[in-house]
Amino acid sequence: MAVSPSNLLDQVLDYTNRANPYPIYAKMREHPIQLQDDGRYVVSSYNLVSQLIKDPRMSVDMRKSNEPTIRVEQQEPGFVFQDPPKHDWLRQQVMSKFTPQLISSLRPRLEEIVNELLDAQHGQTQMDIVDNFAYPLPVTAICELLGIPREDEAQFHIWSTMIIKGSNLGRDLEAVKEARQGRELLNNYMGQLIDRIQQQPRPGLLSAMIHDNTVEKQMNRIELVTTATLLLIAGHETTVNLITNSTLTLMRHPAEFERLRRQPAIIPNLIEEVLRYEPPVQFTMRNALTDLTIEGIQIPKGSIIMLMNAAANRDPAHFQDPDRFNPVRPAIEHFGFGGGIHYCVGAPLARLEADIALRALARRLINPRLLQDPPPYRESPTLRGPRHLLVSFERIAD
Ligand code: HEM
Repeated sequence: MAVSPSNLLDQVLDYTNRANPYPIYAKMREHPIQLQDDGRYVVSSYNLVSQLIKDPRMSVDMRKSNEPTIRVEQQEPGFVFQDPPKHDWLRQQVMSKFTPQLISSLRPRLEEIVNELLDAQHGQTQMDIVDNFAYPLPVTAICELLGIPREDEAQFHIWSTMIIKGSNLGRDLEAVKEARQGRELLNNYMGQLIDRIQQQPRPGLLSAMIHDNTVEKQMNRIELVTTATLLLIAGHETTVNLITNSTLTLMRHPAEFERLRRQPAIIPNLIEEVLRYEPPVQFTMRNALTDLTIEGIQIPKGSIIMLMNAAANRDPAHFQDPDRFNPVRPAIEHFGFGGGIHYCVGAPLARLEADIALRALARRLINPRLLQDPPPYRESPTLRGPRHLLVSFERIAD
């Protein structure tokens, strides 16, 4: 079946649409799989995203794609960009140590961090939720969890920003170059850190992976470096958006914020609703391992296929009243953490951090108001969230 090309993906990537891409996603869903001007395919219905996210003919390994800028960029990627069997093995190395017990043991320390961040705002009547709260929490958490010195944040934040900017889908060649540089710098840093931990074990997940004598085969240095880098970036650049998007959404729905104060028990469900309604990762990229026909549309091997998680999350064929924020919506099956074999490794940690952060905000932030709506957004269309979120408030409760 023929399909006329569209440029809706370009509109999503366009920064001027960052504050509200949802009307574009609604247009995309009119043709749930569609060819773009540039030869990519965009998938946007709940039904199709849910099928393709689990389809073994979809590769995350961009070295296999037919787009040169995307292909050459990757050397030995982190396992989120690797297919089985390598993906499964590396993921298992992490999962065996990143246990539910380990994550729930972090609660007291995370509560301490959150309370310190809010204590620091005593005497103030306005704050930037991003810089003063939603960013420092996940950074501190992932550094302590992995065993990375927190004071190195100023350095690795620059490299991480370069990498994320270049994940701008291979369009902007300058950004692709910058991303490669960022990756080299971060990998170099991580390599040196790993060498130090090799000499001298320390608390944390990195040391546990490096000094694991129980496994048949140990991870080699490159595998350790790319896995550590992946965990570091994925561990904070997304959770910051979850906390900020949650706060923004609550500020836009003051009655719901008030309800949280009275009924903190709804927080876990509210977090799922934010992951559906304002997902921190808006879409993910795949390429076709073979020639495919999907819904009558032919897709040549190597073509890039964009799975638009955020569009699927608002598909009226699956969700009632999808554009309404409803923190007590029942049975929210969203794609906020992806699906299939690449389902987010850090989902339990992200949920825990958001839970602690929102409980504290609901209890301690008295009469908050948004000072700028819409707020300025970060550049990335994929890892989407405000760059700053200025709120005023009466006071910080003890
Ligand atoms: C709110 C916060 C987070 C969101 C929204 C999020 C979202 C996602 C999504 C959508 C994927 C799937 C990517 C794909 O299908 O291509 C993913 C994978 C992944 N996430 Fe997260 N993530 C979050 C937090 C974290 C944290 C805290 C960590 C680590 C501590 C983490 C580590 C990973 C890893 C390692 C993968 C790759 C899994 C695989 O390929 O098997 N994420 N995440």
